[in-house]
Amino acid sequence: MIRYRAPTITESEEIAVIHLKTFKNFFLSSLGKSFLITYYTSCIKSKEAISICAVDGNNRIIGFCFGSLLSKGFHKKLIWSNLLPFTFQAISILFSKPKAIIRLITNLKKDANLEDDGDYSELLSIGVLVEKKGQGIGKGLIIAFEKECGKESVKKISLTTDFNSNDAVLSFYKSMGYIVYGQFTTYPNRKMFKLIKNI
Ligand SMILES: CC(C)(COP(=O)(O)OP(=O)(O)OC[C@H]1O[C@@H](n2cnc3c(N)ncnc32)[C@H](O)[C@@H]1OP(=O)(O)O)[C@@H](O)C(=O)NCCC(=O)NCCS
Repeated sequence: MIRYRAPTITESEEIAVIHLKTFKNFFLSSLGKSFLITYYTSCIKSKEAISICAVDGNNRIIGFCFGSLLSKGFHKKLIWSNLLPFTFQAISILFSKPKAIIRLITNLKKDANLEDDGDYSELLSIGVLVEKKGQGIGKGLIIAFEKECGKESVKKISLTTDFNSNDAVLSFYKSMGYIVYGQFTTYPNRKMFKLIKNI
């Protein structure tokens, strides 16, 4: 029996481990487990984020879904409210992967895009353990996420996903009612789809 519930802060390490397994070769994964723990701990603590995990009968996390209530400015606020741990992570990344800092900062600036008022909720991260894929868990996570959005009177949810070699994930989102809203390229040259759903 699978349940969907809010994760606790102590579960952020378990979530980071699943992230590393499900998002192999993704930029955030390249920043390492410690960065992911900081990121997910901050999201779980934030009142402006929606955090959901799927757990099996043994209360073991098998999937997760995170998003913001308001897309615009979410990550900047998250960093400011957790300045110490993020500064520590930034220094550590600066020494181990200096180019990654440029990419992080450049992509944070997408908040400043004047053509997009960011007045919607954003689904930021969703992952299901590889061995549990195709069993409806991703669908359950999205439904739970949208239910929480509904409680906060959110009207619209957006998400971004890779443009290239990503047909399965795109089909997954389309099956959940998300429609392609546009395309854009993030630094250094990653082509992305933006999808939107009115709820
Ligand atoms: C994308 C992901 C979250 C989907 O989770 P999942 O539990 O495997 O998906 P579900 O079993 O809930 O599938 C829900 C629906 O999506 C569709 N779908 C799922 N996988 C699909 C695939 N490989 N190809 C086509 N459609 C697919 C199905 O139509 C399904 O609808 P149905 O219930 O009518 O059969 C999961 O595969 C994952 O973690 N992928 C790696 C991480 C990732 O890429 N995340 C998204 C980054 S933007």
